[in-house]
Amino acid sequence: MGPLAATRHLRTSNSSETVDAISLPAPNVRPLWIGPLLVDPPILQAPMAGFTNYAFRQIVREFGGAGLLATEMVNAKGFVWMAENEAEHPDRLWGVADEPRPLAVQMWDNDPVTLAKVGERLANEYKVSVVDINFGCPVRDVVQKAHSGSYLLREPERMGAIIEQVVKACAPTPVTAKIRLGCSRNNINAIEIAQVVEGAGAAALTVHGRTAADMFRGSADWDRIAEIKPHLKRIPLIGNGDLNSPQKVVDAFRRYDIDGVMIARASLAKPWLFRQAAAALRGEPVPAEPTLAEERQLLLHHFELICRRFGEAKGTLLMRKFACCYAQGRPGAREFRSRVVKVSAPGEFQAVVDGWFPTDASKSVRASTSTLVAG
Ligand SMILES: Cc1cc2nc3c(=O)[nH]c(=O)nc-3n(C[C@H](O)[C@H](O)[C@H](O)COP(=O)(O)O)c2cc1C
Repeated sequence: MGPLAATRHLRTSNSSETVDAISLPAPNVRPLWIGPLLVDPPILQAPMAGFTNYAFRQIVREFGGAGLLATEMVNAKGFVWMAENEAEHPDRLWGVADEPRPLAVQMWDNDPVTLAKVGERLANEYKVSVVDINFGCPVRDVVQKAHSGSYLLREPERMGAIIEQVVKACAPTPVTAKIRLGCSRNNINAIEIAQVVEGAGAAALTVHGRTAADMFRGSADWDRIAEIKPHLKRIPLIGNGDLNSPQKVVDAFRRYDIDGVMIARASLAKPWLFRQAAAALRGEPVPAEPTLAEERQLLLHHFELICRRFGEAKGTLLMRKFACCYAQGRPGAREFRSRVVKVSAPGEFQAVVDGWFPTDASKSVRASTSTLVAG
């Protein structure tokens, strides 16, 4: 049994221990169908470039509670180039061929033919459960240089052509779209876009409740997300933005007419959040947060998964950012972060985790150690 399985057992064996009680009863949640796929529970793990690789997905899967997992966004042009020149698949498809389903792979580009070509391979060769297209990325290189991601929100016709061709190429695998509310606050066109997405044959729409110009500023506008729902006749609406607790997930379903929710950033610090949110939606007690000792084990398990793929040197560098996420919000996190971002070998990583990852007894132990050293 891996370390994570052990922590999971610990937590389930103590199910009476719960985090903050959910203040209101769970709402009625409808089954979420994405084409022929039942997403149960209707809580999706968001694609996050640089983070939602196989190791992270594996950890989310071990905790449970996410009805559909997603890869990082994959550049369709790069994929085609690699296939033609190197006969390899992109790093971002690590694990995809063999890992459990359901799994969505997200891709980006602005060319219908390229996207259809890649979609066809993802559906038929990799046999993924869902092919998702990114129409929300606000990052400069994607928007300004490649006229892709959220850039396409200003070109609904092109979006329609992309979706139509990808749907055709992937059938019967469902194709979904992930968008933002619009390019900017003065140019919110999510309702029009939603109708284009549905009309072109997509099987679901996910909406991040910010505009591209917002980047991550301000709060996600869930009223605007919900306004889309009456304009969709056939496909489900998945809301996304700022869900960071089981209570917020329950509230989203209670307050807004949505079919599913998607969680991104909060799950980097708490990959067990899906499991907690799923219990809350079922009206069951919310499983407790892992102890810091269990979190530390989890961190080492994550490190092991990363190193198995990328080797120890690259794995250690990659792990820095994940380690920072795990410590987030804990006493001593700043000190831990300042040390872990400098590690470049597995021994150094282990030493920083051993010495500085927040512990329950925390500060006092460290304070006395440093006093001793200083003395
Ligand atoms: C580091 C990072 C990487 C992201 N990469 C992607 C991506 O590859 N594809 C995508 O559609 N959205 C991406 N997003 C956006 C998230 O999927 C999500 O829409 C956004 O973070 C809002 O959800 P949250 O408030 O739960 O974080 C990324 C977000 C972050 C923070």
